[in-house]
Amino acid sequence: MKRLFFVLNIGVFLFLLGTILSACEKDQNLNTKLPLQPISDSKDVITGPEQVKIGFAMDTLEEERWLKDKMLFKESVEALGAEVKIMAANGDDALQVWQAEKMISQGVDLLVIVPHNAESTAAIVKKAHQAGIKVIAYDRLVKNAELDMYVSYDNEQVGVLQAQTITSIVPRGNYVYIGGAVTDNNAYLVKKGVFSVLQPLIDKGKITVVFDDWTKDWLPSNAKENMKLALEVSANQIDAVIAANDATAGAVVEALEEQGLAGQIPVAGQDAELAAVKRIVAGTQTMTVYKPIKALTETAANLAVKLARGEDVKTVKQVNNGRIDVPSILLSPIAVEQSNINDTVIADEFHTKEDVFRGQQ
Ligand code: GAL
Repeated sequence: MKRLFFVLNIGVFLFLLGTILSACEKDQNLNTKLPLQPISDSKDVITGPEQVKIGFAMDTLEEERWLKDKMLFKESVEALGAEVKIMAANGDDALQVWQAEKMISQGVDLLVIVPHNAESTAAIVKKAHQAGIKVIAYDRLVKNAELDMYVSYDNEQVGVLQAQTITSIVPRGNYVYIGGAVTDNNAYLVKKGVFSVLQPLIDKGKITVVFDDWTKDWLPSNAKENMKLALEVSANQIDAVIAANDATAGAVVEALEEQGLAGQIPVAGQDAELAAVKRIVAGTQTMTVYKPIKALTETAANLAVKLARGEDVKTVKQVNNGRIDVPSILLSPIAVEQSNINDTVIADEFHTKEDVFRGQQ
């Protein structure tokens, strides 16, 4: 009986000992973890800035610049720790709407759009807002929509720089204006800037605009047809040409070449495309307007990621899009001629010296 009693006690003693020991162990683990956490809110320490996904709905990759916009925007967004999804609609309005809807359904947190058609893309802004997603217009404005933000270069100033350079060389004479696409709000802004400089000279009878038309979809082939018509209706009596971008300026120079006039008639462009900068070195194009794409993509990426993370962003400037005053950031464009190629596009490594001067006399 005594032995049984003794054995039972030992058993109870050992059981209690085991329970106490395991409780001590648990406590120790807790202790080691706990001291780390009280310092600050656990979420910040462990996860860092909120992971967001930005959708970039582009119009086209036809012009050289858009390839740069695509690459540099992706780099800028990823450098901010966010994801980016990019689609390009090749100038097709219905496809651009479909692509935007697709990105919305794939859960992007914010949409950045380069509208092909300034008016029809208002529908995309509406769909995005219905899904609780904000929209930033990139380079080109979306008209008549409750847009959240607009980031671009000062496109009126682009036109002013073009006309100031050309009128300083040709203060009198017959001018041709080769405009951009009527679907693109930038085409109106650039033209407004050009004519803000030309009109006083027109009014004084110093300048006559012998031909002025838009270029459907910014296509060089359409611009060339227009320039051939301009040469025809004016019997080649042309003293200067202002084209809304370098792709159309290249088509103008081709048409002039066919008439043996290339290099004799000053031509203005925009975008600082490599081919255009080479034409400026060769003397068949007079100037272009350089818009550093890196600055534009970094600005847009910063705004997009901030807004996607729900941060508040204030801007100094607003641009009215026919519906509201859109909070906007407009960067300053730069005129480029033979004299400052080195200090601008080459200094910025937008193009290399080798690429620009290769094959030049
Ligand atoms: C405009 C843009 C220009 C030009 C053009 C054609 O909206 O500002 O840089 O390239 O589109 O795509």
